[in-house]
Amino acid sequence: MRINPVLNQLSTYPTVALDKKKAAVRARGIELFDFGTGDPIEPTPAFITEAIHNAIPLISQYPTVAGSLELRESIAGYCQRRFGCALDPATQILPTSGSKEVCFHLPLVVIDRQASDRTVIFPDPGYPPYQRGTLFAGGTPYPQVLTGDYKQRIWELPKELLAQTRLVWINSPHNPSGAVLNREDLRRTWETCREHDILLASDECYMDVYDLEPPPSILEVATEGVIAVHSLSKRSGMTGYRSGFVAGDPEWIQVFRSFRVNPGVVPQDTINAGATVAWQDDEHPERRRETLRAKKELFRSFFEEVGLKTAASEATFYFWIRTPDGVDEHTYADHLMEAGIVVSPGTYFGLDGAGEGFVRIAMVPELANCARAIEVWRGVHQQAPWKA
Ligand SMILES: Cc1ncc(COP(=O)(O)O)c(C=O)c1O
Repeated sequence: MRINPVLNQLSTYPTVALDKKKAAVRARGIELFDFGTGDPIEPTPAFITEAIHNAIPLISQYPTVAGSLELRESIAGYCQRRFGCALDPATQILPTSGSKEVCFHLPLVVIDRQASDRTVIFPDPGYPPYQRGTLFAGGTPYPQVLTGDYKQRIWELPKELLAQTRLVWINSPHNPSGAVLNREDLRRTWETCREHDILLASDECYMDVYDLEPPPSILEVATEGVIAVHSLSKRSGMTGYRSGFVAGDPEWIQVFRSFRVNPGVVPQDTINAGATVAWQDDEHPERRRETLRAKKELFRSFFEEVGLKTAASEATFYFWIRTPDGVDEHTYADHLMEAGIVVSPGTYFGLDGAGEGFVRIAMVPELANCARAIEVWRGVHQQAPWKA
């Protein structure tokens, strides 16, 4: 069968690889504690689901690209409260179906296939759609390898590379490591992009998932040449509803808006009604953060007890964990999986070996199940099957 060769170039998507292994273990009757995917297993707040329910129309019609002004005003209010940033709801904000589709679609808007400067820079390890969207758009991926503190410093990249670059992705707080760029890092990133006339796309879908300081947004630095990407998935436990927004430079928002009449991914009015009330409320993300703090405390003391070390892991609901000495990330993840603990090998998020020697956990199961999982995990370390 002749197909788009880009499809053959792609490795198995991380969640697909994990799902296969999970099914095999589940079939043997082992209870699974699933820390594999960043998909919160906690209810969506009732006031949001009620707003969605009440918005189901009698006559269903196509949604508009821009969504309602009420929604865009609600988003502008959120940006003002959270980032102190005044955005024009008419020109600087667009609702989206979550943030993944933006990560995938944005290169299609930016890349000129006929031009020689087609590079897209993104963090590695990182969220797979940055690379995948680039390939489908005919761009040239440049995975910027992160280690140590996992902070992406684009100003350290060669000038020749930046001269060939049209789009830079940053992701703070970062999946999979939880690293956070501070305001000064963001300012240097923005200045570097401006110097080379590069669109700066800042994936901020974990912006409200933190236990200590609220991470800063690129919107606190500037909007010129910037698209910030936000989502209700993790903030409000709404992964299944597909709801987010882009905000920033009015010219780029206009270009993105004109693109969006094409792919059929405009969010539904019904979901937008839920999003309108979700962005108006700061209380429910704080409730979720309280639970996150309790989970992080449990895991931190367990890691200390068994001698597991983490890197970065500042914000998000992820811990980025170094595997025990002498055990690679696949072996370690497989031993945990055998016991029912699902974690992701770090290399699932990396190209060419980035993420080696690490596993990621997503603290998405309920607190009580995190505590039960830790008992099982402790048992694995007591047996240390990798030493056999
Ligand atoms: C870094 C990053 N960006 C974007 C997304 C997509 O989230 P959604 O499309 O649900 O907003 C994810 C999901 O895990 C992610 O980790």
